[in-house]
Amino acid sequence: MRIGVYGGSFDPVHNGHIAMIRSALKSGFIDCVIVIPSVRNSFKLYTNKLPAPYRFYMMKETVEGLGLKNCYVSDIEYSIEGVSYTAVVLEKLTSDAYIRDFLTDNGVKRKKAEEHHEFFWIMGSDTLGTFETWYKPGEILNYATLLAAVRPGDTTDVDKASSSIRKNLGGRVEIFRLDGVECSSSEITTSGDFSKVPDPAREFIKLHALYTENTKLAGVSEDALKQFYDSSVWMYHYLGAKRLLHTLNVGYLSAHLADVFGCDKDKALIAGALHDCAKELPLEKQTELAREYAGSLFTEKKLLHSPAGASFASEQFGIKDKEILDAICYHTTGRGNMSILEKVVYLADKIEPSRTYTDLTPIREAAEKDLESAMRMTASAVRDKFVSQGRDIHPMTLLMMKDLGM
Ligand SMILES: [Fe+2]
Ligand SMILES: [Fe+2]
Repeated sequence: MRIGVYGGSFDPVHNGHIAMIRSALKSGFIDCVIVIPSVRNSFKLYTNKLPAPYRFYMMKETVEGLGLKNCYVSDIEYSIEGVSYTAVVLEKLTSDAYIRDFLTDNGVKRKKAEEHHEFFWIMGSDTLGTFETWYKPGEILNYATLLAAVRPGDTTDVDKASSSIRKNLGGRVEIFRLDGVECSSSEITTSGDFSKVPDPAREFIKLHALYTENTKLAGVSEDALKQFYDSSVWMYHYLGAKRLLHTLNVGYLSAHLADVFGCDKDKALIAGALHDCAKELPLEKQTELAREYAGSLFTEKKLLHSPAGASFASEQFGIKDKEILDAICYHTTGRGNMSILEKVVYLADKIEPSRTYTDLTPIREAAEKDLESAMRMTASAVRDKFVSQGRDIHPMTLLMMKDLGM
């Protein structure tokens, strides 16, 4: 098979990316495209970028939603330590074992004779001129042919750049014509005009309230940003799509609420983002981890993930700050004498943007101005739910309610 590989940040994916995929497939050089949203690329490691899982799932939903045939999204960069240079990604992707499993998992039918694969690295012709300065360009060319798109109105001297690469590095370069619009992700996010973003991605952005003031994380320290991005990659291995995006949304909203109600924004971001990190661990593991953090305080199955999450975040992800760990531990039940940070995470968990279980507008409005009142409204909804299900309210939730004057 002739496989095109298309890497990028896709922050967000836009119609130019889709045109690139469609034109590459039409070029006659390749049979399918594997899209790889970056996890950690060499530029701007942690600044101003959506955590990798958002960009990965946004791309997946876009490919599925648009019904793009012969196009598959790969999470290969999640299993690469450190910066995901093209040479490193291609080394792994082109290995027999990886590509066989990837194609099989994606239901790509092929005959035995088609198990020999040829790879093409898809790129814009404007980057051809700088290709020789990339990390290990010679190795890239050992794994793949460069497949460069000539954009409409492109003034790059494609022939000169290709012959220099051929002469200096001895690789293959092919050119194809790109039919489609010119746009850039940074222009979209700066202008706030999302009209050049495909519908499925636009819905995804709306659902999770991305590219808003809250997701800019103004005032958050470099260290906390790094921890936030790294935790999103770490949790990718432990949580399914919906839960992972939920827990990251809680991170963003907690950081915003920390601004509104005056607690540490770095801590709110991290506690919120990690609050559900243990929720999909096997129950036995949750029980063991929960006991380590909180003894026998929590026994109900549904609650175990909260103290277990505190242990897990501490042991596996190196979070040692007690205030952060407590905010994770008590996010489901609350407790007496809650700190502002604990309240912020408790609240954000119930009302983050992708929560749609009931009309949350009144609580969301209250959460912009009055923490106690938003907490009371939330606690009262929790109480109603428990009563309707005939369940006992946890003693620590009762203490929280008492503090709230309920
Ligand atoms: Fe939870
Ligand atoms: Fe949650």
